Amino acid sequence: MYQLQEEQRLLDLSKQLAKSDIHEQEAKQLREVIEYADWKYYVKDDPIIADAEYDALFKKLKDFEAQHPELDHQGSPTTRVASGLNADFPSVEHLVPMLSLENSYNAADLLDWDRKCREQSADALLEYTVEPKFDGASISLVYEADQLQRAATRGNGVQGDEITRNAMQIRSIPLKVNMSQYGIRQMEIRGEVVIHKQKFQEYNQKLIDKGEQPLANARNAASGSLRIKDPLEVGRRNLDAFLYHVSDTVMLENQEMPASFRSHAGLLNMMDSLGFKTSSASTRKFSQIQEVIQYVEEFEAHRDNLPYEIDGMVIKVNSLALQEQIGQTSHHPRWAMAFKFKARQARSILLGVEYQVGRTGSITPVAKIEPVSVGGVTISSLSLFNEEVVREKQLKIGDTVLIERAGDVIPYVVKSFPELRQGHETEIVFPTHCPVCHESLYKPESEAVWRCTNLNCEAQVIERMIHFTSKDAMDIRGLGDSLVRRFYEAGFLKNIVGIYHLPFEQIQGMEGLGEKSANKLKEAIEKSKTQPLHRLIFGLGIRYVGETTAKSLARTVEHLSDLYHKSKEEFLVIEDVGEKVAQSIYEFFSHQDNRQILDELEQAGVCMQNVQKQEAMSGGLSGKTFLFTGTMNMKRSEAEALVEERGGRLLGSVSTKLNYLVVGEDAGSKLEKAKKLGSVHILSEEEFMALIG
Ligand code: IVH
Repeated sequence: MYQLQEEQRLLDLSKQLAKSDIHEQEAKQLREVIEYADWKYYVKDDPIIADAEYDALFKKLKDFEAQHPELDHQGSPTTRVASGLNADFPSVEHLVPMLSLENSYNAADLLDWDRKCREQSADALLEYTVEPKFDGASISLVYEADQLQRAATRGNGVQGDEITRNAMQIRSIPLKVNMSQYGIRQMEIRGEVVIHKQKFQEYNQKLIDKGEQPLANARNAASGSLRIKDPLEVGRRNLDAFLYHVSDTVMLENQEMPASFRSHAGLLNMMDSLGFKTSSASTRKFSQIQEVIQYVEEFEAHRDNLPYEIDGMVIKVNSLALQEQIGQTSHHPRWAMAFKFKARQARSILLGVEYQVGRTGSITPVAKIEPVSVGGVTISSLSLFNEEVVREKQLKIGDTVLIERAGDVIPYVVKSFPELRQGHETEIVFPTHCPVCHESLYKPESEAVWRCTNLNCEAQVIERMIHFTSKDAMDIRGLGDSLVRRFYEAGFLKNIVGIYHLPFEQIQGMEGLGEKSANKLKEAIEKSKTQPLHRLIFGLGIRYVGETTAKSLARTVEHLSDLYHKSKEEFLVIEDVGEKVAQSIYEFFSHQDNRQILDELEQAGVCMQNVQKQEAMSGGLSGKTFLFTGTMNMKRSEAEALVEERGGRLLGSVSTKLNYLVVGEDAGSKLEKAKKLGSVHILSEEEFMALIG
C-alpha cells in the first residue's frame, strides 16, 4: 500500500505537524499520518512512531476538531474514541446472506470434496487456496464511497446486529479505504474478530485479581466483546480482525473489477492493498489435493505457536468464475470447505464433585470426570468455579458432559446433556460447612463464591504457604505443593515464617530428601530473602492483590512497613486499585497478627526494602530508553520489566530518542533503521544482561 518513499514523507510530515499550527489542510495531513501509524501498528505489527509522539498528534487533531465542529470530520481516526454508550444493536440485513462452511475432518473427506469439485468444473485447471480458519466471531463490514458505513455480527446469516461503533474500536479495521481506485463504489466484506491469546490471558488475569470469574475461552471473549454497551470498554479488550472474503461489490459507473482480482488470492491481495489485515501471508495456492492435505496437517502441528486461536483451515476454489460454476447450497458454498482440526472438545461422565478450599477460604467445586483425552491431554478433574456455574449449567452427578480445552486455557465444562439422563443421576448438594475445618460457610449477597472464614483453617494455612513459595511470588524452588504439605504435617511449618526456620538436621532424614536436595532447598530459601518487594507483597496472598497490584503497591513505598500507616483513601489513588481492593489491603496491614508475621519475616532476614526504587532513584538505567526486537530467550515482558525496575524507559519505535536497541533472532526493519541512524547502541541479549548486571 505504501512505498518506502511514502513512509518517509509521512514521517517527515509527522515531525513538521508536531510543531506547526493546525488548519484544515494540516488536519487532513494529521489524519493521514495517524491512519498510517495505525496501519503500521495494528495491521503490520511494525510500529513507526513512539507512543508519546502518536498521542501528541492524536490530541492535536482532536483539539482542532473540537474547535471546528462546522467542518466535516467523518472518517477521522478520532471518531473511533467518541464516548457515549450504544443505545441498542439494531437488526440489519446483510447485503448477501452469510453462509457457513461445510466441515471436513480427515484426508478422505478432502479427497471426496476434491472429486466433486473436479466433476463440477469439468476439465478446467483447478487451483485451491488454503488459509487459517480463525476461531472468533464473524463480522461483516460494508464500505461505501471509501468509508466504513456499518459493521454487523453474523446473526442468523441473513440478519445480524449492527455494531459499527464497537467495530470502530478495532484498530486493524480501517475507517477509510481507497477502493474507488479500483472502481468500487460499495463493498461488503467478511472476516473474523479475534482476541489474541496473550491479551485474553491478561484480561482474564485482571478479572481473577479483582475476584471475578474468568471468561471461558478466547472465542466467547471475542463475540461477547462485540456486544458491550460501552465502546471504550470494547477498545480495552484489544480485539483484532482478519478479513477473508469479499461477498459483494458494486462498481462505479462504467468500471469493471480489475482482472487480477478475479480470484480468491487476488481478492486477498486487494484487501491487503486497501489496508485490511488478512491471512495472505499464511495462505498457499495448490493444484493438487494431496498438497492441500499436507499443508493443513503441517499447519495443525503448529497451531499452538500462533498468537490467536484457529480451529482449522479453509480451502477455497481460487478462481471466482469456477466458484460460480460450482455453486452453493442454501447453507454453504460448494466451492469452499473447512478442515477442522482435532476436537478440543470431548464427552465424558461427571462422576462426582469435590470441594477445594483456597488460600482465601474460597470453596471451589471440582468436577471429577471419567478420564478423557481432549486434544492430546488426558483430563480427569476440572474446576466448576462456583455454585452459580453449577446451577447455571444444571449439572447432575452421572450426567454426560461436554469438556473443552482451548490452547493454554484451563479446561472447562461447556454443558451437560439432560436428554441423555437415565434416571440414576443425582443432584449436586453444595456443602454448608468447610470440608476441612468444618466451620460454617459464608457467602456475601453480591458474590458468587462461598468462603470458609476461619483464617486458621488448615487448608487455608497450607495454601497460603504454597502461594508464598510459588514461582511468581518468592520463587522457592524445591518447596512445592507436596513438600509444604509434608512439612506442615510433620509440624515443621505452621506459617510462612517457619520457612526461614526449617530444622534441616531433621529434614535431611526424611524420605526422598537427601543431603543434596536439602542443600539446594536451603540455598533457594536463602535466595528468596532478597526477592524484590513486589514479589513478597504478592506472596502474602492479600485478597484481590494480584501481581499487577502488588507491583503498583511496591512502587509507592521504600519499606514494606510504610504500608502499615496508609489510609484506605491513600490506597485508592493507586492505579488499578478500587474500593474493594483498597479495603482488603487496608484490612490486611491493619491486622496485628499480619504485622507480627511481617516483623518476624524481617527478623529472619527477608528483605522488606524497595531496593529497586532506591536503585532507580540513584541512577541505574534512569534517563535511558530501550526497545526490544526479534525473538529472545527471555520473555519480552520480563526484559521490559527489568528495564523499568531500574528506572529506564521503553520506547515503541526506533528514533533518535532511542539509546538501546536489544536484538534477538530474526530482528528486521527496526535493526536496519537503528543501524542507519547510527546513534542507537545495538545490544545482543547477553550484552543487555551484562549491562543491567
Ligand atoms: S469463508 C462464503 N474463511 O468459519 C464463505 N470463513 O464455520 C464464507 N471462518 O462463518 C466463509 N475463518 O465465520 C471463511 N478463512 C476463513 C474463515 C472463515 C473463519 C468462519 C466464518 C464462517 C465459519 C464457518
